[in-house]
Amino acid sequence: MANKLQATMVLDKSYQISEVDQRIYGSFIEHLGRAVYGGIYEPGHPEADEQGFRKDVLNLVKELQVPIVRYPGGNMVSAYNWEDGVGPKEERPRRLELAWRTIETNEMGTNEFVDWAKKAGADVMMAVNLGTRGIDAARNLIEYTNHPSGTYWSDLRRAHGYEQPHQIKTWCLGNEMDGPWQVGQKTAAEYGKIAKETGKAMKLVDPTIELVACGSSNTDMPTFPEYEATTLDIAYDEVDFISLHQYYGNNSNDPANYLAKNMDMDHFIKTVTATCDYIKAKHRSKKTINLSFDEWNVWYHSREHDEKLEPWTVAPPQLEDVYNFEDALLVGSMLITMLRHADRVKMACMAQLVNVIAPIMTENNGQSWKQTIYYPYLHASVFGRGVSLQPILSSPKYDSKDFTDVPFIDCAAVYDEQGEELTIFLVNKHLEDTIPLDVDVRSFEGYTIKEHIVLEHHDLKAANTKDTARVTPHTNGDSSLADGKLHAQLHRTSWNVIRLHKTKTNES
Ligand code: AHR
Repeated sequence: MANKLQATMVLDKSYQISEVDQRIYGSFIEHLGRAVYGGIYEPGHPEADEQGFRKDVLNLVKELQVPIVRYPGGNMVSAYNWEDGVGPKEERPRRLELAWRTIETNEMGTNEFVDWAKKAGADVMMAVNLGTRGIDAARNLIEYTNHPSGTYWSDLRRAHGYEQPHQIKTWCLGNEMDGPWQVGQKTAAEYGKIAKETGKAMKLVDPTIELVACGSSNTDMPTFPEYEATTLDIAYDEVDFISLHQYYGNNSNDPANYLAKNMDMDHFIKTVTATCDYIKAKHRSKKTINLSFDEWNVWYHSREHDEKLEPWTVAPPQLEDVYNFEDALLVGSMLITMLRHADRVKMACMAQLVNVIAPIMTENNGQSWKQTIYYPYLHASVFGRGVSLQPILSSPKYDSKDFTDVPFIDCAAVYDEQGEELTIFLVNKHLEDTIPLDVDVRSFEGYTIKEHIVLEHHDLKAANTKDTARVTPHTNGDSSLADGKLHAQLHRTSWNVIRLHKTKTNES
């Protein structure tokens, strides 16, 4: 009798889903908690550069090869006056920041963030305020950032020391406008109208930009997916992407159920894709709306703590989830899910990047370190560039509280044709057993194993702190390749990255 815990797979270079848009490895910095102040920016810190940016943090961000960073919110953007954050720092107003009930000093603003992103090697995904503001503030902002010169707002940017336009290409039309927590919440009809008119004005200023319309804040919203349908019905011609946001948690301490939650993400992506295509058909349009999963992560550890924080302080420690090993596994599975939808998910932002539900943590005036979730994000971003392949996978399955037929093995594979590399990302969700995997890789003739990286820990709750890195990857994965068959032992609850490359011969 065959071992029931055996998985098999075929990976063929011609079974292609799509080229991976590198922007799916984006992230997010909001003016929230210590993401900006004490995170990316801390003048006076021993590692601060001449602009006050922490070089230790910049180095960690660069290691992640983050291609794009969303800014400045998030909920914060819905009551933000972008003008407060430009010009001489000493003249910038301190404001009540309503989304997170803090004091915003405005020491960092648009220009400084563009500078920071440049240093990090990332593009900026800028969000405009469609909560308290609208067309006028948005068209002024894009004139300020993207118009070369000779007008009021572009010359103001030049007067602020930025001669060249920032040429920001990607713009979010507000944030989570369906949410009752949002300052300036809107019905889909109200939002669709303002998104359309704002997008139209912004594209008149700079027709080269791409626009992301808000979808639902998560799948539990009562208006999901009608919000997407109505918004797109109104603004189809003006927008290019629809946004998806989703956070998961293990509140009931049920790891089997928790690790299956990327199945919900998969369903979410399929539903939004279908909604986009329904409106496309309704409009007899040739244009396809793609998906921007511009907030995704695990978020639940810090919620209780945050309820007790005093309001109206500067940069309090909000949303500082300390991630454990099982969180890293789910993050790995979420990345796999997005790779498997690489044909429609063209942008995504791990929310967020530093301190606030983040892979990177810092201590004010102290050190920085990598959370557990840093590693799957790192591996996917660095090795997951190329063409996403369709794995033909047969995996044993399990049922959990909310899900049935959950494959123990999650898999995505990315083929870098130019670099002649194939990277296979795998999660084994089995809580007790190793699962052997056989992969038919016959179409990758001449390939050998370069490395097999594994992230594993006997304790699902193990976390990294500033003093102890308990969860770090090793490269002693158990796999072999012969005669077009790859054999791997996938240890219980593990994240695996198996990298194959074409063996170079001396023949020219
Ligand atoms: O990322 C944290 C918050 O989550 C964002 O501000 C908001 O858009 C979402 O609800």
